[in-house]
Amino acid sequence: MKPVKVGVLGLGTVGCGSVNVLTRNAEEIARRAGRQIEVTMAAVRDLDRPRICGTEGIRLTTDPFEVANDPEVEIVLELMGGTELAREVAVAALEQGKHVVTANKALIATHGNELFELAQQKGVMVAFEAAVAGGIPIIKAVREGLAANQIQWLAGIINGTGNFILTEMRDKGRAFNDVLKEAQELGYAEADPTFDVEGIDAAHKLTILASIAFGVPLQFDRAMTEGITKITAEDVAYAEELGYRIKHLGVARKAESGIELRVHPTLIPERQLIANVDGVMNAVLVMGDAVGPTLYYGAGAGDEPTASAVVADVVDVVRAMTADPENRVPHLAFQPDALQDLPILPIEQIETAYYLRISVEDKPGVLADITRILGENEISIEAFMQKDNVDGSSQVPVVLLTHKTLEGRMNQAISAIEALNCVDGSVMRIRMETLD
Ligand code: NAP
Ligand code: HSE
Repeated sequence: MKPVKVGVLGLGTVGCGSVNVLTRNAEEIARRAGRQIEVTMAAVRDLDRPRICGTEGIRLTTDPFEVANDPEVEIVLELMGGTELAREVAVAALEQGKHVVTANKALIATHGNELFELAQQKGVMVAFEAAVAGGIPIIKAVREGLAANQIQWLAGIINGTGNFILTEMRDKGRAFNDVLKEAQELGYAEADPTFDVEGIDAAHKLTILASIAFGVPLQFDRAMTEGITKITAEDVAYAEELGYRIKHLGVARKAESGIELRVHPTLIPERQLIANVDGVMNAVLVMGDAVGPTLYYGAGAGDEPTASAVVADVVDVVRAMTADPENRVPHLAFQPDALQDLPILPIEQIETAYYLRISVEDKPGVLADITRILGENEISIEAFMQKDNVDGSSQVPVVLLTHKTLEGRMNQAISAIEALNCVDGSVMRIRMETLD
């Protein structure tokens, strides 16, 4: 049989990683796919830039549409990033009956609903395993492996750059910006690294996971997102003293009234496996009603780990090319006409426990004021710690862990605490999850 011809948009970290894996493992991949796979064309911005992959036999262009429009190309790998141009080229490819494989979570989280509908009409596939958690086959696991279950919740460390930064800061005391620079050099970070450190990239991924877990349309604009830039070395140390690790977590939970969709730094008990996932590694914990908790772990970013997922999608597409489009695995796990209209809950309606760090004057009555405010808001305290002042000032840090409460109540309590004369600056709030 003739080889399947593939066009690649982007020969950066993931594009070149994918070309390298397709070349090195060509024979093994063909035995799995049932056909040889040949990269014939690729689009880049700069034709003269040195690449980490060979380009012999690949026709290079600076026009991504040339690849999408090439009559011989059957599968387009969108590995450029960004949303607008990526969307236009993906639409062009799908319109012409070509399959699209992408690692671009921003594209899927923001334009996935439209792309899936178009793909459905045209009888082709949009595959996006590499878009979530790098090399971990989490899309396949949730969409197919857990298809028997009602998924109750999932929680994941789903940004490699953020986890790499938090780990290096904790273990080696390195400065935030220094570690971010290294993550960029290693090819982990997004083109705009604020996507990594402000939680936007994790929110893109969580949006996708929530849709395939709960059978709801993609709704990235409803996700609550908080980054890691405000986490201090003191918070990391205090959390450890209390038996917790701080991780940047994406949490999606099906509640009675809707779906929680939130990304934020989170205290996790250190006995939990996921609390010990370090460096660029990602992990996703999924709770199904039949299977119970399942944990998926692996490299969350980098050229070949991500290529592993891209190429697996290419193999899936090649295998399915001759199959009846009606009988393929649905893009969002549930049949398109069976997606539910469940609301994404506003953050004020979410219930969780909290770590609070409050800088207070070291004088009688201060703690009484704080506990009174928490009591008035029906918030009960689980643990309390007062630290020594570090710089000879009259302010000392007080650290509290609370039991679960509504975020709306906690917002009111924090406003009242910050208004006290004895309290200096803002209250540091980090949400806590036991993940039991
Ligand atoms: P990258 O290293 O910056 O590579 C992007 C590539 O796209 C470059 O080769 C660039 O060309 C090309 N490109 C960009 N705009 C273009 C345009 N207008 N026309 C033609 N070519 C264009 O990015 P990456 O890290 O590989 O990421 C690619 C995608 O994979 C993103 O969606 C990212 O979120 C996703 N992803 C990345 C990782 C990772 O570990 N890096 C993991 C999972 C998913 P030049 O080289 O000539 O500039
Ligand atoms: N920038 C992303 C990360 C790449 O660090 O997780 C993988 O999606």
